[in-house]
Amino acid sequence: SLFLENVGLLRAEKLFSTIVYLDLTKPISDENITVTDTAFRDTPVRLYLPKKKSKRQRPAVIFLHGGGFVLGSCKTSANDFLNRWMANKLDAVVVGVEYRLAPQYQYPIPYEDAVSAIKFFLQDKILEKYGVDPTRICILGESSGGLMAASVTQLLQNDPDFKNKIKAQVLIYPSLQIIDSFTPSQREYEHNPILPRDMTIKIGCLYFTKDQALPQAVRKNQHMPQGSRHLFKFVNWSSFLPEKYKKNHVYTEPILGRLNKSYPGLTDSRLSPLLVNDSQLQKLPLTYILTCQHDILRDDGLIYVTRLRNVGVKLTHDHIENGIHGALTFIASPFYLHQGFRIRDKYVSWLEENL
Ligand SMILES: *[C@@H]1O[C@H](CO)[C@@H](O)[C@H](O)[C@H]1NC(C)=O
Ligand SMILES: *[C@@H]1O[C@H](CO)[C@@H](O)[C@H](O)[C@H]1NC(C)=O
Ligand SMILES: *[C@@H]1O[C@H](CO)[C@@H](O)[C@H](O)[C@H]1NC(C)=O
Ligand SMILES: *[C@@H]1O[C@H](CO)[C@@H](O)[C@H](O)[C@H]1NC(C)=O
Repeated sequence: SLFLENVGLLRAEKLFSTIVYLDLTKPISDENITVTDTAFRDTPVRLYLPKKKSKRQRPAVIFLHGGGFVLGSCKTSANDFLNRWMANKLDAVVVGVEYRLAPQYQYPIPYEDAVSAIKFFLQDKILEKYGVDPTRICILGESSGGLMAASVTQLLQNDPDFKNKIKAQVLIYPSLQIIDSFTPSQREYEHNPILPRDMTIKIGCLYFTKDQALPQAVRKNQHMPQGSRHLFKFVNWSSFLPEKYKKNHVYTEPILGRLNKSYPGLTDSRLSPLLVNDSQLQKLPLTYILTCQHDILRDDGLIYVTRLRNVGVKLTHDHIENGIHGALTFIASPFYLHQGFRIRDKYVSWLEENL
């Protein structure tokens, strides 16, 4: 498409930062939705509250934006547009969570910000204040926000105070593991203009450190510590990827212990929701996963689909054959990317039926 050709001319990093930095919107209400910036505990959030009177309580969607924990905001014009549109279409309360970002705030601060804001929102008195039906709450995340959504959902499901509070999780082209950087999609779409592998690794590593040894090791898939071999069975694409995506790729085991420094986050399921075992996965709520073909993160989503189906989690999976990573980012001006609207309509119509 013309769009992809244009993107190819720019350096993707420049494009990314242009989009996310210059583009923050103010909280502007419209005829249907009251938009406010506030804070849940210490985490800033943007709230979208439908204006029209409702006889019954409303569903709620908690939105976690993407950007590799380094870029992005729930206030970009694309995300503001999406969240406003969702609030209107679903007659739902939408909460955009503005967690802090690396490299200034490294792991686990962004995650803890999100958890703290979400737990605050899920209190009965707060749900009541916003007219939210406590049985109809969804967590939705895209890209790295999808990783956060998946791990927060796992956390809450294991917490007696929050168990069953989340009715559904929606993961849009999510990243779901950081332990294997040689999945077939990582190899096939290494040079994809939207999320090239090098840039993704460079950005992703800033979540832990600015030390260049980490991204160098990740590029070679040699970043995991000694003693972590048992974790690879949970992300082994050779066992979980449908045949059509394996093609002629050959599974090679990552080499362990090459990185001198160790980062505890590398083995933490909060950063790799795929690392939990089947009995943990079994507890998860209704799930929607969308994957895009042209996406280095494609296989993370596909592996989660297989693993969740294997343990009987109720799940809907949409795969966009010509899909590119991050299409929702290009839904607003000046791009108006058609595919972004298609993706939005797919998951929002699923939410209309299931939330
Ligand atoms: C308000 O809602 C109506 C009905 O859904 C819609 O037609 C209209 O475009 C909405 N207004 C805005 C500013 O989104
Ligand atoms: C990955 O799966 C393949 C085949 O399914 C198997 O031969 C290999 O031992 C597995 N490796 C790990 C580390 O789980
Ligand atoms: C790890 O440390 C050893 C010894 O200090 C050094 O020779 C080697 O280059 C280091 N490796 C990396 C990847 O930094
Ligand atoms: C699965 O993981 C949980 C939490 O880490 C652990 O308590 C449980 O024993 C594990 N179950 C199996 C079957 O390994």
